[in-house]
Amino acid sequence: MEREIPRLCRAGEDARLVVDGRPFVMLAGEMHNSSASDARTLDAAMDRATELGMNSVIAPVSWELVEPEEGVWDFSSVDTLLAAARRRGLRLGLLWFGAWKNAACSYAPEWVKRDLDRFRRAELEPGQRKAYLDFHGMTLPYATLSALCEETCDADAWAFARLMAHLREADAAERTVLFVQVENECGLLGAAREHSPEADDAFGRDVPSRLLGCLRGRAGELQGRLGAAWRAGAGRGSWEDVFGDFAEEAFTAWHTARYVEAVAAAGKVEYPLPLVVNCWLDKGREAGKFPTGGPVARVMEIWRCAAPSIDVVAPDIYVPDFCGTCDVYRSSGNPLVIEETAVHGRVASRAVWAVCHHHAPCFAPFGFEDMGEPFDDAAGVLFGASLDPAAVPQDAEEYARVMATLRELVARARDVRGGLEGMDAAISERPEADVLAVGSDGVVGIGVAYGDRPGACAVVPLGPDEALVLALHCHVTPVSLDPGRPHVDIISLDELVPDEGGVWSRGRRLNGDEATLLRFDGPALLRLRLFSYC
Ligand code: DGJ
Repeated sequence: MEREIPRLCRAGEDARLVVDGRPFVMLAGEMHNSSASDARTLDAAMDRATELGMNSVIAPVSWELVEPEEGVWDFSSVDTLLAAARRRGLRLGLLWFGAWKNAACSYAPEWVKRDLDRFRRAELEPGQRKAYLDFHGMTLPYATLSALCEETCDADAWAFARLMAHLREADAAERTVLFVQVENECGLLGAAREHSPEADDAFGRDVPSRLLGCLRGRAGELQGRLGAAWRAGAGRGSWEDVFGDFAEEAFTAWHTARYVEAVAAAGKVEYPLPLVVNCWLDKGREAGKFPTGGPVARVMEIWRCAAPSIDVVAPDIYVPDFCGTCDVYRSSGNPLVIEETAVHGRVASRAVWAVCHHHAPCFAPFGFEDMGEPFDDAAGVLFGASLDPAAVPQDAEEYARVMATLRELVARARDVRGGLEGMDAAISERPEADVLAVGSDGVVGIGVAYGDRPGACAVVPLGPDEALVLALHCHVTPVSLDPGRPHVDIISLDELVPDEGGVWSRGRRLNGDEATLLRFDGPALLRLRLFSYC
């Protein structure tokens, strides 16, 4: 029997991932790029996800493995993934490594890579088909397929459609796969736009009326460089007339998004799962110095217009300003899906905050297999420490406890309140936002303070002055939010604890010293009742 297809459902400012008819939060990890290509490595990664308390895994499916020869299909890598996840009760997010993988074509099949005439490469300057990028002291080579090449787009779309049709057949009964990402960090490195004769020709034409209509309709909301360019431009005519010195970037975003839309739409017709695109952040750099045309915030309105089959733009967050990046990508109705973030010692507090403050339907550190390992080689420094010299490894056992606690908090919020509305959180990276309302009346709250370790605190209101509280490396103080009733007492503080089978129930009543100190390190799940008076 078929189960309901996973879907994204808008709820006010939020979006929920609805699985089996109920909101579901993917407490996931994204595995290293190569882990799914070998059954033993895959099993080890899946076991690690289970040890870390995750309920989902994000894993790649590459074009080169599913279509090794043109028109010859091999979905055994997908079936192996499905089986490995199901054996462990894990859900999956799949990543389609098609024409793009980090702005390069490393996962395109050999028959695509070799046929330079049929599957044209992006030309950074006329005839130049390879980019070399300075990346933190290394020189990295990039060969990229052209976003304007119809042959490539058709072949990519056909392969993606076959994948989605296979998933419909293989997964309709179980619904192990909850979403699929289309391409991976698409865009062009080394130039703001392609410079082949076809690209020059397209750049010389007028901006499509569809894009003009979309931007006109959203003119009030256009921000940053796109907004400034639009306001200064002619509103019609060539790319340069409309976008001035932002023209090349806007052009590349439009063509990249149109390509991805063709792939996404072909897959969605076969099996309409939620579809995601991820982005390598621009970090304020000029075009060409990040995968230009990818769905970064500054061109998101162009993507919305060109790629309506895409449900979510997910930022890959390795930068120190995690919270600010989340705020930006959650704006204007884009749900915050985090498929990739650094695995270092801030990751547990960030999971609590992203899920409970931003109601992220998915949170996943990248390369979770290595959690807790020292960053003692180039890969560790790049992926794990995320080039942050102050980064320390995350304690893996603590992460597993945080995942278990967060899962219980989310389950109770869903069961007691019927949804995740009202859930909120504070984080030590933003100590100024440190008061959380307890209870639905907004009369009492808790102030949250932190020590040296990354901390977070989440609250799920249960009644007028009662809440579930998840506390990680923080100190909480009951506070009044009502000047007419300035004093606050704790009526009761109970801990909730899991048994060996993972079933949670009430543990100790903590109304003594613990309720005076109110300092919690390893994650604690608490039921707190307050009383305010004058
Ligand atoms: C972002 C990519 O999307 C991932 O596949 C991986 O390459 C990471 N970067 C490594 O930091």
